[in-house]
Amino acid sequence: MNKIEIDGLHFIKYIDQKEIGQIVRRLAADIKREYVGSRPIVLIILKGSIHFASQLLLEAQLDSELVFIKINSYDGLDTSGKINIELDIAQNIENRDILIIEDIVDTGTTLHQYEMTLRDRKPKSIKICTLLMKPSKLQYSIDVAFCGLEIEDKFVIGYGLDYNEHGRNLADIYQLKQE
Ligand code: IMP
Ligand code: MG
Repeated sequence: MNKIEIDGLHFIKYIDQKEIGQIVRRLAADIKREYVGSRPIVLIILKGSIHFASQLLLEAQLDSELVFIKINSYDGLDTSGKINIELDIAQNIENRDILIIEDIVDTGTTLHQYEMTLRDRKPKSIKICTLLMKPSKLQYSIDVAFCGLEIEDKFVIGYGLDYNEHGRNLADIYQLKQE
């Protein structure tokens, strides 16, 4: 399946599952190396990161504590500029290593704002791992320690990423075709 249509929008295949697998394995090796001797708290940002986080953590065999958080900022094809933390970490994170797993960094609004709320809680470290990143759209200088792939400024779906809750189940990543 090279093309799909959702609500009148056309998407074409962009990154296939084999390439995603290679990216995830590389990131898993990097993360494993980073956290030798530590037991980080891994914050998985729902819902878009689920396939990525699960594949990454199985691959890395990382001794960690898993926490799910839910933050919204996107509305359809655009960022709303404001974040809404629907589900946050409740436990004490003082002096703990924190690894945030995100599907995609776009303007950086989500992670920039959320990271500030974490810093107040005095963790030992905060590192970000994202599958994708759109550097040309970044509006904040956020430090992404582990980045799978930098992509151009086009809307993508699949492998957890959605367009209005469609496309999360796709094994490959698709890019919006601009007509
Ligand atoms: P940011 O706050 O602008 O960095 O946006 C980050 C969030 O917006 C991500 O967690 C995604 O949920 C969503 N997002 C950004 N770009 C895309 C995209 O191309 N496809 C699907 N979701 C996206
Ligand atoms: Mg999302």
